[in-house]
Amino acid sequence: MQDIPFARPSIGDEEIEAVATVLRSGWLTTGAEALAFEKEFASFIGVRHALAVNSATAGLHLSLEATGVSPGTAVIVPSLTFTATAEVVRYLGAEVVFADILPDRLLLDPEDTARRAAAASKAGRPVAAIVPVHLAGEVCAIEPFREIAREHGAAIIEDAAHAFPSRTSAGYAGTLGTAGVFSFYANKTITTGEGGMVCTGDDALAGRIRTMRTHGIDRDAWDRYRSDLGGWYYQVVAPGFKYNMPDTAAAIGRVQLKRAESFLRRRRDAAEYYRVILTPLEERELITLPRGSTEHAWHLYVVRTSPSIDRDRVIRRLAQAGIGASVHYIPLHRMPYWSGRYGVTDKDLPRTAETADRVISLPMFPALTRSEQDRIAEVLESALREGS
Ligand SMILES: Cc1ncc(COP(=O)(O)O)c(C=O)c1O
Repeated sequence: MQDIPFARPSIGDEEIEAVATVLRSGWLTTGAEALAFEKEFASFIGVRHALAVNSATAGLHLSLEATGVSPGTAVIVPSLTFTATAEVVRYLGAEVVFADILPDRLLLDPEDTARRAAAASKAGRPVAAIVPVHLAGEVCAIEPFREIAREHGAAIIEDAAHAFPSRTSAGYAGTLGTAGVFSFYANKTITTGEGGMVCTGDDALAGRIRTMRTHGIDRDAWDRYRSDLGGWYYQVVAPGFKYNMPDTAAAIGRVQLKRAESFLRRRRDAAEYYRVILTPLEERELITLPRGSTEHAWHLYVVRTSPSIDRDRVIRRLAQAGIGASVHYIPLHRMPYWSGRYGVTDKDLPRTAETADRVISLPMFPALTRSEQDRIAEVLESALREGS
């Protein structure tokens, strides 16, 4: 049992009561709660359509499907991400093209993206989508990706799993591309246990996603339940999926959404305090930062150790002291499935490879206390001193 976990959800009586109300209501699947959650979420981030789904993975799959990703096409994805970002491309029979990250950042590099998009298209594989990941909650600058997307007729699907709420002068992360996808997995900035939200301003795209998330049926169960025409009639218009969010989850999401600003304040304070107490440690640097006029959701607090440090040993020392730390991420191109399929090596993605060996994600959650952070800094300092 860890004394200080890596993440801890903030669930209170209001969430518990909201679920109990749904359980007592007799309607447990997607219904009034999910609809209300979608409306409230859309209004919070300022987007025309918000579609609740049962995971971000489902949302990414639906978004790529709706934008025409299909066998014979390519999708550009960073290798420094969770496998969900890339696996959905394979669900659709398309090919993943891994691109490198920016220097000293965790975010997809537009220049490398442009190079790889040109190469894929020259090799006869048109680029159907680019998936920038707002890793840790830091927002990718979207304009350069828009140019590449325009040139190739590709969609931009933002993987905003970490980025609720990350604000930029152009709008919230997740509203900047063709579609954006949020995760409400248990350790995310707001949670429904499992869940996600797809956001888009495109009516046709939203229509396709809405249909495909419930088996390709033209009306969902709630719509049929309320209908004067009787609940039994529907038409199947495509072989869809089963990706809807139940009301039990949506009820938790609605309460969490109301608390999102206060969670963000707590995360921002914790990030600022980490910055202050970790500044004296020479063997690390903060790798994820808010830049320019953007705000950071602080889903993760990621430090990078200097090259002479044995990073894995530092994480072991933290674990021995009862402190949960993690790594975001082991790059996908080092995973057996992905390396077997594409044969990409560290040499092809040098910045990803170098960064992946040096990063540590420290505990970060709204209820993290300053005395817990002091303890983390103490253990980190001694681990870094003896860590090379
Ligand atoms: C970057 C990224 N994308 C996508 C996902 C998938 O999210 P979910 O678990 O909601 O499917 C995750 C989950 O942790 C993630 O970290």
